[in-house]
Amino acid sequence: MTTLVIGANGQIGKQFCELSQQAGTPIKAMIRSEEQAAWFSERGIDTVIADLEGDFEHAFEGCDQVAFTAGSGPHTGPDKTLMIDLFGAIRTADIAKQKGLSRYIMISAIRAEQPLEAPAKMRPYMVAKFAADAHLRNSGLPYVILKPGRLTDEAASQQFASSLEEAGDNQISRANVVQALLHVVQTASLINQEYVLLDGKRSIEEIIG
Ligand SMILES: NC(=O)c1ccc[n+]([C@@H]2O[C@H](COP(=O)([O-])OP(=O)(O)OC[C@H]3O[C@@H](n4cnc5c(N)ncnc54)[C@H](OP(=O)(O)O)[C@@H]3O)[C@@H](O)[C@H]2O)c1
Repeated sequence: MTTLVIGANGQIGKQFCELSQQAGTPIKAMIRSEEQAAWFSERGIDTVIADLEGDFEHAFEGCDQVAFTAGSGPHTGPDKTLMIDLFGAIRTADIAKQKGLSRYIMISAIRAEQPLEAPAKMRPYMVAKFAADAHLRNSGLPYVILKPGRLTDEAASQQFASSLEEAGDNQISRANVVQALLHVVQTASLINQEYVLLDGKRSIEEIIG
């Protein structure tokens, strides 16, 4: 069961690839350039070069499921939000479905379903996540949608909460998201589920099962 990691060169992507490799969980890292490949080959991780704004069908070769951790990031405008967070995500789900992959795991965002409640600057991004999630739910592809809060660079506490009320705060470390993502990737029985992820006081098994 090989997982195509889309956005593998990102902050969550790299941590996830490294942890998966250490755990012996097969992955293929989708990256954007040859220069990025050295970090992965030094760790024995397979890579494929592809861009969400171009042709990327070849990246799915030999893969059974997808983990989407890509994002246009905070330093680009709404044009990239449309092309990567929205259309890129939609196209990857369509290709995963066409190719008969067994599951698609999406890193979405907490409250993506309520873009008007986000600060004005964040709303186009939230709309993109909202629409990409809706497309995935309706795709017919088995899915898991993870909805982290604001991401931090703290170490993994491996302790989670599943609601703002429980957590008392809207944040989670990228390292904790990576732990949760690995748990989902390794648990094939999780199908058509959605989980809010925040730093908290419970194990991932208590939050996700
Ligand atoms: N920041 C937050 O507080 C927050 C909250 C909730 C959810 N999220 C979501 O969490 C996920 C990952 O976060 P992160 O901090 O790891 O992000 P990140 O470090 O910015 O990584 C994003 C990755 O996406 C890749 N990417 C961008 N455009 C691409 C394209 N056209 N084709 C292929 N790959 C492309 C980037 O590639 P390069 O390395 O080549 O640039 C990068 O590796 C994203 O889905 C984001 O929407 C973020």
